[in-house]
Amino acid sequence: MAYDIDMIKKVYSQIAERVDNAREIVGKPLTLSEKILYSHLWDGKPSQAYERGKDYVNFAPDRIACQDATAQMALLQFMQAGKDKVEVPTTVHCDHLIQAKQGAEKDLKRANETSNEVFEFLGSVSNKYGIGFWKPGAGIIHQVVLENYAFPGGMMIGTDSHTVNAGGLGMVAVGVGGADAVDVMAGMPWELKFPRQIGVKLTGSLNGWTASKDVILKVAGILTVKGGTGAIVEYFGPGAKALSCTGKGTICNMGAEIGATTSTFGYDDSMERFLRATDRNDVADAANEVREYLTGDDEVYENPEKYFDEVIEIDLSELKPHLNGPFTPDLATPISEMSVKAKESDWPINVDWGLIGSCTNSSYEDLTRAASIAKQALDKKLKPKSDFGINPGSEQIRFTADRDGLLKIFEDLDATVFTNACGPCIGQWDRSDRKGDEKNTIVHSFNRNFSKRADGNPNTHAFVGSPEMVAAIAISGRLDFDPTRDKLINEDGEEVMLDEPRGIELPPEGFEVKENGYVPPKEDGSSVKVDVAEDSERLQLLTPFEPWDGKNITDAKLLIKAHGKCTTDHISMAGPWLRYRGHLDNISNNCLIGAVNAFNMKTNFVKNQLTGEYGGVPDVQRDYKEKNIPTVVVGDHNYGEGSSREHAAMEPRHLGVKVVLVKSFARIHETNLKKQGMLGLTFENESDYDKIQENDTFNFIDLEDFAEGKPITVEVVHEDGTKDIIKTNHTYNKNQIEWYKEGSALNMIKKMNAA
Ligand code: F3S
Repeated sequence: MAYDIDMIKKVYSQIAERVDNAREIVGKPLTLSEKILYSHLWDGKPSQAYERGKDYVNFAPDRIACQDATAQMALLQFMQAGKDKVEVPTTVHCDHLIQAKQGAEKDLKRANETSNEVFEFLGSVSNKYGIGFWKPGAGIIHQVVLENYAFPGGMMIGTDSHTVNAGGLGMVAVGVGGADAVDVMAGMPWELKFPRQIGVKLTGSLNGWTASKDVILKVAGILTVKGGTGAIVEYFGPGAKALSCTGKGTICNMGAEIGATTSTFGYDDSMERFLRATDRNDVADAANEVREYLTGDDEVYENPEKYFDEVIEIDLSELKPHLNGPFTPDLATPISEMSVKAKESDWPINVDWGLIGSCTNSSYEDLTRAASIAKQALDKKLKPKSDFGINPGSEQIRFTADRDGLLKIFEDLDATVFTNACGPCIGQWDRSDRKGDEKNTIVHSFNRNFSKRADGNPNTHAFVGSPEMVAAIAISGRLDFDPTRDKLINEDGEEVMLDEPRGIELPPEGFEVKENGYVPPKEDGSSVKVDVAEDSERLQLLTPFEPWDGKNITDAKLLIKAHGKCTTDHISMAGPWLRYRGHLDNISNNCLIGAVNAFNMKTNFVKNQLTGEYGGVPDVQRDYKEKNIPTVVVGDHNYGEGSSREHAAMEPRHLGVKVVLVKSFARIHETNLKKQGMLGLTFENESDYDKIQENDTFNFIDLEDFAEGKPITVEVVHEDGTKDIIKTNHTYNKNQIEWYKEGSALNMIKKMNAA
């Protein structure tokens, strides 16, 4: 059995007391999200009310899920923690590193050759440390989690932004950076700002061409890509109950596209049906016993304006099918208005590809609804004008869909069935029909449609829709096709229309799979050897960072004064560098190469004070490191905003940067710097940023007295010998100062474990 029923029963055995207690302390009825948050406090029983959007709170998640691209650095770090096993049930899923090209069999074979080293590494680390391992081809992380691990009322973190998909089964599931996941694996708490609460009341029921996907496409249109920031979106109302569990998953999945911390739904019959269909009767029975605690209080849903920070109401009976895009998932256009909008906007009308699947829309119901449209093309003698690609979400889905004849329908339309993996959704797509940068259109049932995301071409206009709408548009070959209104001409020259899609929520004959791709870890992994080749390009075992010598940093040189926005992408670029996510030294060659040098407004062009010459940031920094010269990075406001990737903190640390001094930090990056044993400081007077010159040397005056709440004084010596004394602040608490002293949070965990 892959899931941990004892852990789930333990959560349920505590939930009533904790929720009742929280309700009393908060002094009002609770939303579902609040119930889950308050029943997962690190300290156990709630003892105070937390202010939404303000208080940082320590939580104890029930599960962790990692995908292959992010798991590499997470596991390399975990190996440093000195633990024999992960403290919290964890799984690793190989889904991002498989390129879609010729179809499942050949593509999987190729991926197993080209990324074998990474898969082997992830498999052996999992085996050693008690982590469940899902092999390449087993499926996409979030679909596999929904089918196997998600449970109502649970809390999960995952090293992928669409971890939020598990809200479809009533969880609070949040995407985090690898460093956060490592903390929890190693038995430490997970910190989150207590989220704001957005309520979405759904009334009516879906009908005709409208699907669950259209609910989130509509919400994205209302809230935009930033509207959910710092909030949990909680769906409720009769319309919510009428949706299938996997449909709820689709809605929660794309909550990531509005920036929400996560999204969730209360436990209901659809979730119970899904749990039973996926062979988890024990979880359904256990959930039924605490049913009232797995949904928001009645009063909250009756008077949502009183209890949510924002309320949106959508009547599903009135909702129209949408296509969102191009280039952003919040540009929502009802299908009925697409012909006008596309013309006005000069979007290419002809559609080259219709892609169905991804973690967003690859459920059995999704495939049946799309297949019901595809089948009509065969029956009504319509030859699809676009190419079809299908990415099933898991081997269980693929096997069942194959058994039930769904895949055959697509294959009869010459569709390519790709591996059960991310494929085109993450740019792992060797698209054969177009190689240049020509303007073209594709439609897909994925979640993200940013420029270049699917095929690397900035001129590919990608539109997001439901699987059935993607099928209809792919058959017509036109972006402006409205199946509720428009006719198509078939091979006999007759006019035909497509009937409304029909779906089946769960396979009538049950799910089936022969080899699901799961590899359980050894009970005792102590004898498992983890091999990483010395000369590997993609993987490198980590060496613990050096502890602080307790002295003031002196004679430190300025590496770069970054001008303006400096996000984690500027500090550690993605794209081709993804390949090196498991090799700290190699990926460090992208360190700060996107940051703009304030002295010449160029990127990756900084002065080496030792030679007077200019060079790339990593090269100059390596020269300082070699000569044992400490360096300082200076930055502007909100330094390190963007993703939570820990590489942006590990790379400068690895290359020998000692201090990052900025006007202000993005909070997660600041924490990541602290975790990696770096000194992250802010100017007390922001205008001191202007005093920093290209040839400056920094001497710390009182770092030796590093203490909570105590500013640090720095002498800045300019080239002409003049000096400025600068006051800097920090937010290190006692514990974090210990991280700094030990060289990193992991070093400290290791020390504690050894004690
Ligand atoms: Fe994979 Fe795309 Fe989902 S990259 S995890 S299918 S968002």
